[in-house]
Amino acid sequence: SQKWVLMVTAQTPTNIAVIKYWGKRDENLILAINDSISVTLDPAHLCTTTTVAVSPAFNQDRMWLNGKEISLSGGRYQNCLREIRARANDVEDKKKGVKIAKKDWENLHVHVASYNNFPTAAGLASSAAGFACLVYSLAKLMNVQEDNGRLSAIARQGSGSACRSLYGGFVKWVMGKEENGSDSIAVPLVDEKHWDELVIIIAVVCSRQKETSSTSGMRETVETSALIEHRAKEVVPKRIIQMEEAIQKRDFATFTHLTCADSNQFHAVCLDTSPPIFYMNDTSHRIISCVEKWNRSEGTPQVAYTFDAGPNAVLIARNRTYAALLLQRLLFHFPPNSETDLNSYVIGDKSLMED
Ligand code: PMV
Repeated sequence: SQKWVLMVTAQTPTNIAVIKYWGKRDENLILAINDSISVTLDPAHLCTTTTVAVSPAFNQDRMWLNGKEISLSGGRYQNCLREIRARANDVEDKKKGVKIAKKDWENLHVHVASYNNFPTAAGLASSAAGFACLVYSLAKLMNVQEDNGRLSAIARQGSGSACRSLYGGFVKWVMGKEENGSDSIAVPLVDEKHWDELVIIIAVVCSRQKETSSTSGMRETVETSALIEHRAKEVVPKRIIQMEEAIQKRDFATFTHLTCADSNQFHAVCLDTSPPIFYMNDTSHRIISCVEKWNRSEGTPQVAYTFDAGPNAVLIARNRTYAALLLQRLLFHFPPNSETDLNSYVIGDKSLMED
């Protein structure tokens, strides 16, 4: 019969890079010019929920993002759909009396409904959670047998940073050497329990969409910046080694030093781009000064900051005590709805909220 529908729903958190990915060596396959390391957030706060459905009644692939239909014709969606379909297997739902043979998937269409519980494309890595969740849920629907590493290489073709959201905890995206991208995959470093005293607070400085997409920004930086090659070849490889060690040892001072320096260097290569790209604004700069001053007065760093392709501050506190003190400070210096455009705080970790 034409009446059946099979559905799968999945939830994927976003991730925040502490050693940034910026620059592609292959734009179609999305292959990076350097390794990167990120932390995956708690799914309760910043995540994408995606439902994928298949039915013989559907006559084309369609997708809705936050309730609005979007086009799936772009290369990134097409690459993900094609790669997952190519790995589909037999599926049987006895209750519904549905049997889909491996070869049937070519002729079946999917409908996708995806929701972000945070602002889309405002530098909060919405595409990371989005593509990771799309690939993961389609893989479940189509009974794809690949492990998360192989799925990460497919999610990567949707959005580079998405490959890191297939795992929790701290994750490394290895840039790889192969031209076909087969070794450009995410690797879990430590799981979410390893360093669970960290608390992440996101100061939503501005929830509007960013002006320069990461794709065009990266392209312009790679084409025009005199500093990007030095960063990718000389600086990041050393930082990756140091960051992995700092994470293993839970060495917060080194972690903070590397995280802040890498965020600042990423924004420096943006400024070194022609025409220059400004992702941070005055409020972002004031938050940096405030955290730097505080860390110096404490003698040892208590809070790390990092900014992606937008003005929102991601603040990582050493523990709950410092997270609470940080919030106090932020609320004092940057009260929500003041004349600064800072409008809300998101707690990216469960620990502060639970008791
Ligand atoms: O994967 P994209 O195109 O969303 O690029 C992400 C770039 C940064 O967020 C700035 C850095 C990173 O590694 O996530």
